Amino acid sequence: MRMVDLIEKKRDGKELSKAEIDFIIQGYTKGDIPDYQMSALAMVIFFRDMTQEERAHLTMAMVESGDQIDLSAIEGIKVDKHSTGGVGDTTTLVLAPLVASLGVPVAKMSGRGLGHTGGTIDKLESVPGFHVEIDNQQFNELVNKNKVAVVGQSGNLTPADKKLYALRDVTATVNSLSLIASSIMSKKIASGADAIVLDVKTGSGALMKELEQARELARAMVDIGNRVGRQTMAIISDMSQPLGYAVGNALEVKEAIDTLRGHGPKDLEELCLTLGSYMVYLGGKAQSPEEARERLKEAIANGQALEKFKTFLSAQGGDASVIDDPSRLPTAKYVFEVAAPAEGYIASIQADRIGTAAMLLGAGRTTKDSAIDLAVGAVLRKKVGDTVQKGEPLVAIHSNREDIADVKRMIEDAYRITPDAVSAPPLIYDEIRA
Ligand code: URA
Ligand code: CA
Repeated sequence: MRMVDLIEKKRDGKELSKAEIDFIIQGYTKGDIPDYQMSALAMVIFFRDMTQEERAHLTMAMVESGDQIDLSAIEGIKVDKHSTGGVGDTTTLVLAPLVASLGVPVAKMSGRGLGHTGGTIDKLESVPGFHVEIDNQQFNELVNKNKVAVVGQSGNLTPADKKLYALRDVTATVNSLSLIASSIMSKKIASGADAIVLDVKTGSGALMKELEQARELARAMVDIGNRVGRQTMAIISDMSQPLGYAVGNALEVKEAIDTLRGHGPKDLEELCLTLGSYMVYLGGKAQSPEEARERLKEAIANGQALEKFKTFLSAQGGDASVIDDPSRLPTAKYVFEVAAPAEGYIASIQADRIGTAAMLLGAGRTTKDSAIDLAVGAVLRKKVGDTVQKGEPLVAIHSNREDIADVKRMIEDAYRITPDAVSAPPLIYDEIRA
């Protein structure tokens, strides 16, 4: 086989076989296929797209390019949740204890990563003492005992995807639906999940700005998952404004605690109930998502979910008293309010600008090794559709520095206020099943 022939084949609109895709991915991972040929292929895929079969073959070839996590020592159906990203997405912090409290094992492998805020691990580390330095055996034992544990990503997962993603980033080929779907699914499958629930975001703060694009991406990923033997479902949810109110690390932990108490932001609670109901259903702990949803609501109402959060934090060294006393979480030196410049209705809140504001405060990492400030971030006071008086606070900025002119400007630019009534956008647009 020669790479040039395969590029030509795809260029002419023909379908690549499993053997051909394996040859490409293995060759590229080893370095036998150079970047310039892989770039050409990525561009051809961008224009010609792939069939569902090709997408599934590409996904599995990337899975097989590196280590695969073996979760077989953990009892039960391991269900993983993946969100395609957004601003202030606190769902994992809520879902891990919530779903585990119904007996579904949550064996969470998470990264730190770059972004507006830290990753799930960073957020949890704002709980004093909490750590993820546990070995595989401890991890398995904790999940078997408590149904939930979080560990840092280790091993060499999907090296082909890492290399290809970096190449796509500099060749204008990130935005290929086939390549995105295979990239995301390869990581989930290599992480060992038996079943996968996807939260595909749409709107200004999402990778897929248009609903139809998001729907197509969700369909592609659900199809890949089910083709390769992992039960997969997806929902399409709104990211035209940040989810919930808090964007930050400790601030989101506090928001998760509020939500597990049943006093969280309504949109965050609703999204968690929806995603959670699919996780519990796929995890075999309910006959239908509807039944699962009722049980999740019960677990919040009777305190079982919050109790599970305590158990989970203490099991990994964390000070669980933060749950009854969130003032023990890191807090910023200053809280500044951004006031509304006019009265009216909130017409839009650009999620990425709120994210950038949190980043400017130090809530996220700009490079792989930079430190993050767990205490800082933004807490929204107004969301789309709300009415506002001139001078009323739009956002509370939690900061450890006094001069925040840049952050304030970013937040003022994020909000648009109109005199005409605006209704809140829908939270969940669609659900996609096999
Ligand atoms: N996220 C990923 O993991 N991969 C992509 O290709 C795009 C977004
Ligand atoms: Ca939030």
